[in-house]
Amino acid sequence: MFADKILTHFNQVFCPNDPGHPLAGKEMAAATILEDGYIAIKDGKILATGTGEPQADLVGPETILLSYQGKVATPGLIDCHTHLVYGGSREHEFAQKLAGVSYLDILANGGGILSTVRATRKADFDTLYQKSYRLLDYMLDHGVTTVEAKSGYGLDWETEKRQLEVVQKLHEDHPIDLVSTFMAAHAIPSEYKGNNQAYLDLIIESMLPQVKEENLAEFCDIFCEQGVFTAEEARSLLTKAKDMGFKLRIHADEIKSIGGVDLAAELGTVSAEHLMVITDQGIDKLSQAKVIGNLLPATTFSLMEDTYAPARKMLDKGMAITLSTDSNPGSCPTANLQFVMQLGSFMMRLTPVEILNAVTINAAYSVDRQTHIGSFHPGKAADITIFDAPNIDFLFYFFATNLTDQVYKKGLCVRG
Ligand code: NIG
Ligand code: FE
Repeated sequence: MFADKILTHFNQVFCPNDPGHPLAGKEMAAATILEDGYIAIKDGKILATGTGEPQADLVGPETILLSYQGKVATPGLIDCHTHLVYGGSREHEFAQKLAGVSYLDILANGGGILSTVRATRKADFDTLYQKSYRLLDYMLDHGVTTVEAKSGYGLDWETEKRQLEVVQKLHEDHPIDLVSTFMAAHAIPSEYKGNNQAYLDLIIESMLPQVKEENLAEFCDIFCEQGVFTAEEARSLLTKAKDMGFKLRIHADEIKSIGGVDLAAELGTVSAEHLMVITDQGIDKLSQAKVIGNLLPATTFSLMEDTYAPARKMLDKGMAITLSTDSNPGSCPTANLQFVMQLGSFMMRLTPVEILNAVTINAAYSVDRQTHIGSFHPGKAADITIFDAPNIDFLFYFFATNLTDQVYKKGLCVRG
């Protein structure tokens, strides 16, 4: 079969393995790296990959050949944990943070997430849409082609629904594909202060069924954290969500370890997010239960902590991990997944191959899109990130600089 387009002569093409499950432990250290590689595209999908001159049977009279000498290609990067849609911003809390006031204290005093909730409730659809569209543009600029996006700054039905509808519309309009997560259990809204159970009941009995009925989200997530939701509360929500057919994620062991990891293992959530303060037993449990550890080192960086998730230990104990931005207005105001990848290297001592596997094939599993994206296997979407870098090591060595050269989404150059 002839290709529509063949991108040729890359210095390196990074090809993750896809064994039919997320890469775990030592598997994360392996990949095929094609030197002088090419990627052939047909109907927006990967047709073939190879080295040197493209195989003759791929090249027809209409096939477009483009040379990318000096560049590196990876599958389109996937940011599998973001709080994309919100009103306002929180630079006013920065001075407090610098003065040493903790993230949970700012929240307990009605700031933090609750400050963004006030701004998001005030923002209309169009304001949220334009603001999030711009964030997605930044992400695309940094080589990202798929983004998971959570609600959770409404904490009332009207605003949660508006956030999820913005995600839905952005998925239609923006080159980046979105995967939607319902996270009304992100904080206790001030009108329910001291009455967690009543707010949980509202989520479980009213919001969750409406999200399902209107098909507004695939995943359900909860912030299991001291002063927010207990593991028992998380169990009641996630069990119900699972029964209703939602796929599950959980923010666990971010600041305090209060049982979220055990729950993730018990319920078999797709992923457990953050894990900055996970224990050795916690790692064993997630590893056995095959829960993906979704690590967010830019959050540790931005919180000015030194509690980077113990990624090396996780790999030693056979866990599968991903890396993502956690892009949000409080604990991690960034849209730069490349910086996150570099922190994975500098602060977690992960290797370039492990990190690239984390943000491609494993991130695809984490958003349940593994049959469509995350690697260059024929038939998957031709989502390709091209870097102005001579080899994959350079992506980590030359840091804090956007190295994106071009981005292809479903075979079309959407950023170049
Ligand atoms: O993942 N941990 C909870 N949620 C976000 C922070 C949201 C915010 O501060 O606005 C996080 O870190
Ligand atoms: Fe988060």
